[in-house]
Amino acid sequence: AILVCSTLLISFALAFFLERRVARPVAALVAGMQRAESGELGVRVEAARGGEFAFLAGSLNRMLSRLEELTAGLESRVRQATRDLAEKNRELQQANERLWQAQLEIGRSGRLAALGQMAATIAHELGTPLNSVLGYTQLLRRQPWSADDGEKLAIIESQVQRMIETIRSVLDRTRDRELHHAPVSLGPLVAEALTIVSSRLAGREVALQSLVPPDLPPVPADAAALRQVLLNLLTNAIDATEPPGTITVSAVVLPQNGRPGRTLELTVSDTGHGMAPEELRRAVEPFYTTKAPGRGTGLGLAIVDHIVRAHGGQLEVESARGHGTSVRVRLPMEES
Ligand SMILES: Nc1ncnc2c1ncn2[C@@H]1O[C@H](COP(=O)(O)OP(=O)(O)O)[C@@H](O)[C@H]1O
Ligand SMILES: [Mg+2]
Repeated sequence: AILVCSTLLISFALAFFLERRVARPVAALVAGMQRAESGELGVRVEAARGGEFAFLAGSLNRMLSRLEELTAGLESRVRQATRDLAEKNRELQQANERLWQAQLEIGRSGRLAALGQMAATIAHELGTPLNSVLGYTQLLRRQPWSADDGEKLAIIESQVQRMIETIRSVLDRTRDRELHHAPVSLGPLVAEALTIVSSRLAGREVALQSLVPPDLPPVPADAAALRQVLLNLLTNAIDATEPPGTITVSAVVLPQNGRPGRTLELTVSDTGHGMAPEELRRAVEPFYTTKAPGRGTGLGLAIVDHIVRAHGGQLEVESARGHGTSVRVRLPMEES
C-alpha cells in the first residue's frame, strides 16, 4: 500500500510538474503562433520563468516584432508606390489631353487652309465670268440708249461691281497666311509628326518608321506648313494600311543632275491597299475622296500640293492597287 501510495504521489507530482512546466508553455506558444498566423502580429507570448520555453517564447516574440516592423514598412512602401502611380497616371492623362488639344488645333488650321482653298476656287470660278459681264456691260453703256435702258445698264454694272467686291474681300480674309521660311531640321519634325499620328493607330500592328538621316542639312521651309504636309500624308497612309503593315518616312538630298541647286526629296510610303489608276489620276483634286462621309474631306492632298508649290517644289504620287503608295515631295534646298 505504501508502495502504491508513493507511486501515485510521484505520478501526481510528475503530472503536476509536466502540466506546469511543459504543457502550459507549449499551449501558450501554440496559441500565440496561431494568433500570429491569423494575422494578429501584435500578439506576444508570456515567457515562462527561465529554461528552454522562455528562450523559445523570447525568440518567437522577437520574430513577431521584426515581422510587425517589416509589414509596416512594406505597407508604407506600397502606399507610397500607389501614390506615385496615381501621380504618374494624372501626368499621363494631362499629356494626353494636351496632345488632343494640339491635334484639334492642327485640324482647325487644316480646315482654315481648306476654306481658303475653297474661297480661292470659287473666286476664280465666279470672278472670271463676272469680270466679262462687267466688261460687256461697260461696253454696252457707251452706246446710245433710252434713259430708262441706260439706267438699267447702270444698275447691272453697279451690282456686278458689288459681287466682285464681295468675292475679293472674302478672298482677302481667307487668303493663306504668308509662309515664313527658316532652316528646318527634318529629323525632329518627322519624329514629332509620327508621335502625333501614332495615337490614331490605337494598338493596330502598323509600324511607323523614320529613315531621315541625322546629318541631313536643314531645308529652307515653313515648319508649320511642312508639318501639315507630313500629317496629311501620314493620315492617308494610316487610312490605307491594314495591319500588318509599315509606313516609312524617308528623306534624301538628290544629286544635282544638270539643274541648278540641290533638291530635297521627302517620301512617305506605305504598304497599304494602294490606288487604282482612275483614283491615282484624281487623288490630288480638291474634294475628291473615296472615304466614307465624315472620314475624308478630299482636301488632304490638295492642301499638300498647294503647300509644296508655295515652296517652289513638286508633288509626285506613285501607287498601284494592292501594292501600296509612295508620295514624294521635292523641295528646293536653296531659296529662290
Ligand atoms: N496613301 C494612300 N493610299 C491609298 N489611297 C490614297 C492614299 N492617299 C490618298 N489616297 C486616295 O486619294 C484620295 C484623296 O486623298 P486626300 O486628298 O487626302 O483626301 P481624303 O483623305 O480626305 O480622302 C483618298 O480618298 C484616297 O482614295
Ligand atoms: Mg487625306
